[in-house]
Amino acid sequence: MPKIRLDGLVKRYGVLEVLHNIDLVMEENEFTVLVGPSGCGKSTTLRMLAGLDTVSEGEIYMDDRPISHLEPKDRDLAMVFQDYALYPHMNVARNMSFALKLQKCPKDEIDAKVREVAKILGLTDYLNRKPGELSGGQRQRVAMGRALTRDAGTFLFDEPLSNLDAKLRGQMRAELALMRQRVKKNMVYVTHDQVEAMTLADRIVVMHDGFIRQQGSPEELFKRPANKFVAGFLGSPPMNFMDVTLEEDGAAFHARGDGFRIALPAELAERARRKGHGDLTMGIRPSDLNYDAAAPDSTAMDLRVSISEYIGAQSVLICNCGEATVTVEVKSETPIALGETLRFAVRPEGIHLFDKTTEKAL
Ligand SMILES: Nc1ncnc2c1ncn2[C@@H]1O[C@H](COP(=O)(O)OP(=O)(O)O)[C@@H](O)[C@H]1O
Ligand SMILES: [Mg+2]
Repeated sequence: MPKIRLDGLVKRYGVLEVLHNIDLVMEENEFTVLVGPSGCGKSTTLRMLAGLDTVSEGEIYMDDRPISHLEPKDRDLAMVFQDYALYPHMNVARNMSFALKLQKCPKDEIDAKVREVAKILGLTDYLNRKPGELSGGQRQRVAMGRALTRDAGTFLFDEPLSNLDAKLRGQMRAELALMRQRVKKNMVYVTHDQVEAMTLADRIVVMHDGFIRQQGSPEELFKRPANKFVAGFLGSPPMNFMDVTLEEDGAAFHARGDGFRIALPAELAERARRKGHGDLTMGIRPSDLNYDAAAPDSTAMDLRVSISEYIGAQSVLICNCGEATVTVEVKSETPIALGETLRFAVRPEGIHLFDKTTEKAL
């Protein structure tokens, strides 16, 4: 399957530039997820790849061949849209085989392909049903099946789950992960849902305002976000941010904020030293703050609980620390009173520092 490369891709509508200098390499058979808030340019990127939108500047390469001058049908791609339209009068099998019939494929080849894809998607028992006799999730699977029966080298998905309710989304996400293991093809998947991105992607590309903010494996982006935007976008509940200044005393470095003074681990202290002093933003994920009344001052934050949200085994506490709002999680059985101040230990590896002006990670 081809490797795909976007090289300095720019998209303008009139004078308005909506995508700026997009550079991206997708390796063979990679599952790439473009993720970002609504309006950041995900669909536009995908549509340029598919040939449905023109490229204003830059080039798209497949296996080092430029393709932006090619018609969509000559690009060896199949696309699944957010608003899939199935043919209501055709059964599942015919919906899935329609494109192959148009291509005048031999009948037994079509039947074999439809059976193979139906098996992958768990649709074998539904081949004779009409779309009206299926659930939303099943219809979505048929829409995917329609793309998968086409023997394209690359599959493009634009928010294929966004019309489904939360439970079905979760179910389809698991099914997609399974499908992904069985179908070794390039897949480019667009979503605004960071959970979908984290669970499905080999490579996540985080977009914002027409820029790529960072790309890499889910783990890389989660553990080492390159900037405050990526840090705050991936992870749930999201990362906490607070203003700090650096204090150097002897060999040690501390981050001082409103009501806390936390020792920085050696490696982070070294990066902070190189950067010089200045105002910084400290980021800590809720999962890196542990309820611990005995934590020493140099690793602790004292948080005043203002809201407690019971969500089952865990409770999410929204707390105040000076001016900052800090979210933490505790086991539900932990006895907590609103207004109470509790001590949390900061996991040293969980401390992130960002330049307050550029928002880049140190
Ligand atoms: N046909 C168009 N004309 C003008 N602006 C457009 C057009 N299509 C999209 N845009 C703008 O381009 C930006 C990116 O849109 P889009 O790629 O659809 O975002 P996403 O899929 O990430 O939600 C948005 O600001 C949108 O308003
Ligand atoms: Mg979109």
